[in-house]
Amino acid sequence: MFPDNNSRSAQLYREARNVIPGGNSRVAVYYPPYPVYIAKGEGCRLTDVDGVERIDFINNMTAIVAGHSHPKVVEAVTRQAQSVMGVGAPHENEVRLAEMICERVAGVEQIRFTNSGTEGIMYAIRTARAYSGRNKVARVEGAYHGGSDLMETSQSGSTPDTWGPAERPNTTRVDTGVGSEVIDEVITLPMNDVAAAKAILSDHASDLAAVILDPFTPRLGFIRASDEFLAYLREFTRSNGSVLIFDEVMTFRSGYHGAQGQVGVVPDLTTFGKVIGGGLPVGAVGGLREFMAVFDQHDSRHRVYHSGTYNANPMTTAAGAAALGVMTPDAYDHINRLGERLRAGLRAALRNADMPGCVQGVGSLTYMHIGDEGPITDHRVRVGMNHDAEAHSLLHVHLLNNGVLTAEGQAWFTSLPMKDSDIDFAVDQVEAGLKQVQVGRRALAS
Ligand SMILES: Cc1ncc(COP(=O)(O)O)c(C=O)c1O
Repeated sequence: MFPDNNSRSAQLYREARNVIPGGNSRVAVYYPPYPVYIAKGEGCRLTDVDGVERIDFINNMTAIVAGHSHPKVVEAVTRQAQSVMGVGAPHENEVRLAEMICERVAGVEQIRFTNSGTEGIMYAIRTARAYSGRNKVARVEGAYHGGSDLMETSQSGSTPDTWGPAERPNTTRVDTGVGSEVIDEVITLPMNDVAAAKAILSDHASDLAAVILDPFTPRLGFIRASDEFLAYLREFTRSNGSVLIFDEVMTFRSGYHGAQGQVGVVPDLTTFGKVIGGGLPVGAVGGLREFMAVFDQHDSRHRVYHSGTYNANPMTTAAGAAALGVMTPDAYDHINRLGERLRAGLRAALRNADMPGCVQGVGSLTYMHIGDEGPITDHRVRVGMNHDAEAHSLLHVHLLNNGVLTAEGQAWFTSLPMKDSDIDFAVDQVEAGLKQVQVGRRALAS
């Protein structure tokens, strides 16, 4: 049973806290009183260090799409490890992975690899600044674009006390370690508000290097950027000489041609991470040739110096190409259909347990909120919603004890090896868990 102070996970977490502040190196993997430590993954299942098996709906925050230890990925990585693991020279794998992504994504004629989505976004912004000769970057309030100072803005630090007027949001810092210069350099836009975006961007037009957004915003329950908002941003950036960046670090998983294939707008630059590394660390910035020319030392427009010991390393690029090779259009249909099934099941579970909540998402990416029927439409709506933190944690513990691993915040991601029966099993556990929460509350109230 979780939690169990005598478990191996609890013991490891105690040891970890001696040498790692907070006990681990990623805020997102911690939950109280300790996170379960994983020993093994196979297909859609993970086994923890105490031997408990669960269906994995976290999938390393979407990075795992073909399943854990997919035989083709394992074979590619093993073959690569036996040939050369890391080298201060280019390797053919880089070319093959680049070709695969360029072939799939409309806004990507060329691509440069990095080691994380964060870095891909840092270099997209550098490209935009070098291309435009300008400094400021506009972003949507509440969206997450990785860990760089510029992008660690206008998220959790944006609260009713700090966020300013809805039609002209303040830029805030996530923490005081983020340099204060970001307040001047980053412009914050309200999601899907064309009139507000027009007023804000026209004030900063002469110094606006880029606008960055996700076509579906993960942190806002995967809501879709509206056609009007996208059309306006596409038109404005083009006519203003600014660069339109789509962050597809997570949403590239939503379809064979990425999210941009679904919203039908071609950005100037696109950032990647997660699935394109087949499970190994990765990131990238891709785009149309005109913009990517800033990286090209043969081109008179060369302005960005891009280096990195592990960029496009042969292990990552082998794993990435193998995983993308498995992800055919049929494979995307499968994980997306499972995502639909999951959303329908979770909605029914909330209804059957008489628990207020909402379920949002796109394709294989799902978000469930407990405590308010929503829907989440932007950051301020999300912050203002009733959040039943107790039900979230009780459900999370119930799921840990009943064979299902989810992020505590109830983000759910499907993967290729999952079957309908895995989805139905998980949904049944959610319904049982929510009903148990309700029974407990009624008993306490009576
Ligand atoms: C939309 C989005 N952008 C950027 C990032 C940052 O990617 P990484 O964690 O690889 O730095 C993430 C990571 O979750 C993300 O979801």
